[in-house]
Amino acid sequence: MEFKAVIDAKTRAPSDCAVVGMYENGDLGAAARNINAHTGGLIRQLHAGGDFAAKTGDTLLLPRPAGAASARLLLVGLGARSGFDRRQYRKALLSSAQALAKTGAVNAMVYLALEGVAGVDVQYRARMVAEIYSAHGYRIPDLKSGAKPKPPKLTSVSVAAENARAVKAAAQGLKIGAAIGGAMAMSRDLANLPPNICTPTYIGQRAERLAKEWPRIKTRVIDEDGIKALKMGAFLAVAQGSTQPPRLIVCEYHGAKKASAPICLVGKGITFDSGGISLKQPPAMDEMKFDMSGAAAVLGAMRAAAELKLPINLVVIIAASENMPSGGAIKPSDIVTSMSGQTVEILNTDAEGRLVLCDAITYGRRFKPAAVIDVATLTGACVVALGHHLSGLMSNNEALAAELGAAGIRADDRAWRMPIADEYVDQLKSNFADLANVGGREGGACTAASFLSKFAANLAWAHLDIAGTAWLGGAQKGSTGRPIPLLVDFLLHRAKSG
Ligand code: BES
Ligand code: MN
Ligand code: ZN
Repeated sequence: MEFKAVIDAKTRAPSDCAVVGMYENGDLGAAARNINAHTGGLIRQLHAGGDFAAKTGDTLLLPRPAGAASARLLLVGLGARSGFDRRQYRKALLSSAQALAKTGAVNAMVYLALEGVAGVDVQYRARMVAEIYSAHGYRIPDLKSGAKPKPPKLTSVSVAAENARAVKAAAQGLKIGAAIGGAMAMSRDLANLPPNICTPTYIGQRAERLAKEWPRIKTRVIDEDGIKALKMGAFLAVAQGSTQPPRLIVCEYHGAKKASAPICLVGKGITFDSGGISLKQPPAMDEMKFDMSGAAAVLGAMRAAAELKLPINLVVIIAASENMPSGGAIKPSDIVTSMSGQTVEILNTDAEGRLVLCDAITYGRRFKPAAVIDVATLTGACVVALGHHLSGLMSNNEALAAELGAAGIRADDRAWRMPIADEYVDQLKSNFADLANVGGREGGACTAASFLSKFAANLAWAHLDIAGTAWLGGAQKGSTGRPIPLLVDFLLHRAKSG
């Protein structure tokens, strides 16, 4: 989808469809007032006749509105003006995208970004148009036989702004939104693909392709022998039960001076988590193909950084492996030596994420990073705690935690701070090794993060547990592309302040 920002204060630009917002109780914004005037009072009549209540997300399509410059008019309810915030705005955008998709419009003029949204500027309003319209146009990789689904008809979206200054800001917002949308699509593709296609090798190849597509990205894929040479005993232990070889994938994005310390994004890349010898129950085991969503998200964030040419340095580290049961698999009570030298007693082979991540975090130290953020579908306990709405956020650094929390709010991709603490580390005591890999049911998300914190000493480190947010089950089953909006917003702000 192509996005443009145009000046159209008079709501007069021709298009296949004009998308115009209207508040409740006949409260008209500037665009609706203009359209009302062009069409001889049509909008007022609709309100007076009780034909459009304008509740948030209501839509009404009017074909061939006499006097308007567009072939169609799509009215979008914005609810009460007093309650019109970023969530209402996003809801209105999503319903406009859904309604537009049901029309024959190939291009559209969207006037919604003209409306004031509490605490949000025009750049953000335009960014959300591009992000939400892109996400709505996303299609799951087609592996069904039979007729190919038709691609979305809508290919060109123009966003109206009032004047030259606003158009410039809106254009920048559209660029950011499209970059986030493109990154989410790539990431969702990877997560939605079945694990017999999306293997560790496949993710490595995708990362290599990313380097071909974006000149500022360099990719290095380290194979099993290389991982052995690095002495990543915890990572290798998880991989040893599988016939699929593991991959350590390292991408570097250079957008700033060489000397500028990079941000290091670490992704959990378990392409299928059967649980291993501590085998999971069959119901919903298929969903464990999404256990590489952290890897997909950090790759996506890097792609967006490259597309936006952000003036920062970035390192992405992905530990990609399957977690499978076999005669060669790790067993409960096995003890392994991590790259950091700390030994780990594996009491539950299903707590594999922390095993691959601890070595990836240790590897990150060689880049002398300004911050390390790991992103992982780490615990079912986090889903119990926060549901599918917010990601878990743990950190050993107050400033970093605050930055990530704020980025999540701005991007409407929120994360909620949860604790790491010595008390949780105590739950990980082992009689036989430095640490056990599980600490009981209680506080499962916190013990997992506290385990990782033992490998992040003296780093500015944060952990995002995306087990609940990275995908949806039920009728909407599939990857969400989260937390890419949060990560990109964080990087944008680092780029501004750095
Ligand atoms: N990948 C899972 C976490 C998960 C579970 C994500 C459910 C999404 C939905 C992780 O590897 C895992 O199996 N964690 C265990 C840890 C336990 C053994 C301490 C869990 O959460 O049950
Ligand atoms: Mn597991
Ligand atoms: Zn897992």
